[in-house]
Amino acid sequence: MLAGKRILLIVTGGIAAYKCPELVRRLREQGNQVRCLLTAGGAQFVTALALQSVSEEKVYQDLFSLTDENEMGHIRLSREADVILVAPATANIISKMANGQADDLATTALLASDKPVLIAPAMNHRMWDHPATQANLATLRARGVEIIGPDDGAMACGEFGMGRMREPLQIAETLARYFAGDLPLTGKRALVTSGPTFEAIDPVRFIGNRSSGKQGHAIARALATLGCATTLVSGPTRQPDPGGVGVVAVESAREMLAACEAALPVDIVVCAAAVSDWRMDQQENSKIKKTAGGAPPRLALTENPDILATLAKARAGRPQLVVGFAAETDDVIVNATAKRQRKNCDWILANDVSTASGVFDGPTNQVHFITQLGTETWPEMSKDAVGETLAHRIVKHFQVQP
Ligand code: C5P
Repeated sequence: MLAGKRILLIVTGGIAAYKCPELVRRLREQGNQVRCLLTAGGAQFVTALALQSVSEEKVYQDLFSLTDENEMGHIRLSREADVILVAPATANIISKMANGQADDLATTALLASDKPVLIAPAMNHRMWDHPATQANLATLRARGVEIIGPDDGAMACGEFGMGRMREPLQIAETLARYFAGDLPLTGKRALVTSGPTFEAIDPVRFIGNRSSGKQGHAIARALATLGCATTLVSGPTRQPDPGGVGVVAVESAREMLAACEAALPVDIVVCAAAVSDWRMDQQENSKIKKTAGGAPPRLALTENPDILATLAKARAGRPQLVVGFAAETDDVIVNATAKRQRKNCDWILANDVSTASGVFDGPTNQVHFITQLGTETWPEMSKDAVGETLAHRIVKHFQVQP
């Protein structure tokens, strides 16, 4: 199906700009008209001639160009588009957009526009992780800007990490779905838990665990990409907030449970958090002192609420699909199968977390997918791919049982 939309493609100064002529072609293959706006930085990586040749449209570059302003003007340039796509979007343009700066043609056109904006970020992973960039992205997200990617992987600078621009074909597909307005999970709501919980011993010490939050965050990201309205309740992690997801940061299991209950009702729950099984029976309000020669304190613990089991309890308003994880070190499948029944959840993703497996904080995961029908063992794949595979299983589930 041809989209037939008018896209203003703003190309900014990142190495990924070399992929833009291909992006233009992919967008045009879908029947869209693409007009390119090239920043000074973008022009260091891709030529106006290349973009003009593939778009068969004039390429706009200069805010103070007599001819451009006469023919088109920065106001008309953005108003005549159905949508603005910034790809690659550097940390710099993301910052300028968040702050409403308008000091060149690209930023001026963006500020002068009331059209939907999508951005495909591309930058070094440290720039992506920087709190300034993440705060700017949160601002843009809150204003309704759609963030496409980035992906994890090898970067032009030789480093690895989050920050690769999504491939042109995938960006074009995202736009096509955006125009169609019918992503497979549009209209569904999901709640995902992620990360560890920290249980305070006293004001300075806590009980925690090694969960990185990578898997839970990847699941939330994958669900949101498929159109699901997703809330991510996360314990303390260093993971950036996934695009298009509402994130609630918590510390303890009890806070996590309260945040989850506040997010109900939902259709789908995925509990990927490594919730601490115990907390202090009595949390100390002052730092416990070490006394010379004295006996070490004995910590009296009490059990934490089981969030998954609480959410899966059969009662009115149970989410239609409840998915848990089982991190096991021995008899993985047997223990996880029992856990699925005990906790009354529909599916369990079980993985081996014995130290040799390297799952905790590692980039990949090997999962046994356990349902009422039996066990499937998925090949070892990245945590992002596990998230996408699970999200597609969820789509299939709702196709059968809408
Ligand atoms: O820790 P356990 O192996 O029992 O975790 C299994 C599943 O239960 C996981 O999905 C985990 O997120 C969830 N869980 C929970 N609340 C707890 C303990 C575990 O939601 N207190």
